[in-house]
Amino acid sequence: MARETELGGGRTGGEGTGGGRTHGEPTQGEGTGGERIQKVLARAGVASRRACDELVAAGRVTVNGEIAAPGRRVDPRADVVAVDGVPVPVAPDLVYYLVNKPSGVVTTASDPEGRPTVLDLVPASPRVFPVGRLDFDTEGLIVLTNDGALAQRLAHPSHGVAKEYLAEVEGTLEPASLRRLREGVELDDGPSAPAVVGKVAPHALRIVVHEGRNRQVRRMLEAVGHPARRLVRTRIGPVADPALRPGRWRPLRADEVRALYGHSGGGGGRGSRPRARAAAPANAPEGRQASR
Ligand code: URA
Repeated sequence: MARETELGGGRTGGEGTGGGRTHGEPTQGEGTGGERIQKVLARAGVASRRACDELVAAGRVTVNGEIAAPGRRVDPRADVVAVDGVPVPVAPDLVYYLVNKPSGVVTTASDPEGRPTVLDLVPASPRVFPVGRLDFDTEGLIVLTNDGALAQRLAHPSHGVAKEYLAEVEGTLEPASLRRLREGVELDDGPSAPAVVGKVAPHALRIVVHEGRNRQVRRMLEAVGHPARRLVRTRIGPVADPALRPGRWRPLRADEVRALYGHSGGGGGRGSRPRARAAAPANAPEGRQASR
C-alpha cells in the first residue's frame, strides 16, 4: 500500500513527557500544553518530523477521533492518536517484546510447578504479560507487552489475526488430510474454520489459522491422524523473525506495533487506546536481548 510505505519503520526511542496530566484527561489541543503532534508521531517511529508534518497537513492524523490541525498539541499519555485510522502508540511508558519461546516454557506469569515462564526471558521491569498463549511444548513467536489495548485487540476472536505455524507431524501427509485441514475439521468444541495449509515436506506442513482456541492446531492435526511431533509459531499477523533465536527477545519495531494494530481491527477511538511507544526500556539487559 503506497501510504504505508511512506511511513517510517524505525525503532522508537526518546523520553516520554507526560506533562503531569492524569491519564484519561484529554488535552484541549490549544495553547502551549502538551507536545506538538508531529514531534510525538516522529518519536513513535511513524516517520521523520517533517514527514509527520505532512501527514498532519494531509488530514491523515486524528486525535481522539478528530482530524488534527497543524500545530496541534497533544498529551501522549492521555490522547488517542491515529494515522489513517490506525492507532499509534505514543505514550512513553509501555513496551513491546517479540519473544521466541522455546519448548519447555509456560506462557503463564507464574507456574505452580515452578517451570520456567516466558516472563523469565524478558526484562523484569516494566512488568509485561503475554498476548495469547503457546503450549508448554510449542515453540515460536509470542508478544509480551504492557499495552492492554493491543493485547485485547489481538485476543479478540472477531479480529482474527493470522497465526502461522510450522508443524512436523507423525505419518506421511496425503492430499486428503491437507484438504480436511483446509476445509475445517470437527473438534470437540466445534469445527475449525477454513485454514491455509501447505505441505513443505512429507512429514511437515505450514498452517495459518485465525482462531486461538486451546491447543487448536495440535487438535486439528490429531483429528486428521497426524499428531504434531513439533509445533513452531512462525508468524503473528504481520510479524515474523526467522533470525530471532529460541529463548531470545527483541523490541518490536514501531512499524510492527502499528501493523499489529492495523491487523487487529480499525479504530482509533477511546476504546482502542494505545498507550505506549514501541521500544524496549533504556535499561533493558543486553545479555538476554537477541543478538542478531
Ligand atoms: N495451537 C496449538 O495447538 N498449540 C499452540 O501452542 C498454539 C496453537
